[in-house]
Amino acid sequence: MSAPTEAGRFITLEGIEGAGKSTQVERLAGALRAQGRRVITTREPGGAPIAEHIRELLLDPEHGAMCESAELLLMFAARAEHLDKTIRPALEAGVWVICDRFTDATYAYQGGGRGLDVAPIATLERLVQGALRPDLTLVFDLPPAQGLARARARAGAADRFERETLRFFEAVRSVYLTRAATMPERYRVIDAAAPLASVSAEIERLAVELHETLGAGR
Ligand SMILES: Nc1ncnc2c1ncn2[C@@H]1O[C@H](COP(=O)(O)OP(=O)(O)OP(=O)(O)O)[C@@H](O)[C@H]1O
Ligand SMILES: [Mg+2]
Repeated sequence: MSAPTEAGRFITLEGIEGAGKSTQVERLAGALRAQGRRVITTREPGGAPIAEHIRELLLDPEHGAMCESAELLLMFAARAEHLDKTIRPALEAGVWVICDRFTDATYAYQGGGRGLDVAPIATLERLVQGALRPDLTLVFDLPPAQGLARARARAGAADRFERETLRFFEAVRSVYLTRAATMPERYRVIDAAAPLASVSAEIERLAVELHETLGAGR
């Protein structure tokens, strides 16, 4: 009889617009694959067919007037599909999942940015995720003006969130940093204001470290 497959690890990347999450997702995945691990990368909102449709609704700048509780519920509706179709099947098969944004973004954007109460967010988190939480969350931290300047220099029109004010992103950043400080064992804050080469080097070093910690005994 073969040994049961050990569950994969779940790593999420967080931070405001332009912090460098999408840039580093593939680097981290590549470094872990080089250790012989099976890894998928995915993103929120989205990461599964219905969830990607919901993403379009959430990011469309034409939907500027979306009510805040509808936004919150759509985020968790997308997350439920993402977990069911993509994240849980991968973890159960022993595949590591690296996700560009997850529930910390809901606490930061809908909680911090929009000012919604934390209690209903925590209730939805339990409803949709049960006990599942990321094994590790990387918070890419930088001043919002710097992040937004990077995001705006990219091709394409600004999405519904990128059109928010600096004050909104200060509140988002503050929630990320508070959560990281409150649960330091699950978070790692990355200095995302640093030049690309040094952030990339830190991600490479982290991958080596994860081999010893999260990947121990595997
Ligand atoms: N450390 C860095 N220094 C300078 N530029 C960077 C750095 N990291 C990423 N960039 C550039 O900044 C832009 C935004 O990066 P990226 O798309 O990875 O951010 P993001 O966190 O995924 O943003 P969003 O939340 O909007 O998806 C890209 O053009 C990227 O090449
Ligand atoms: Mg991105």
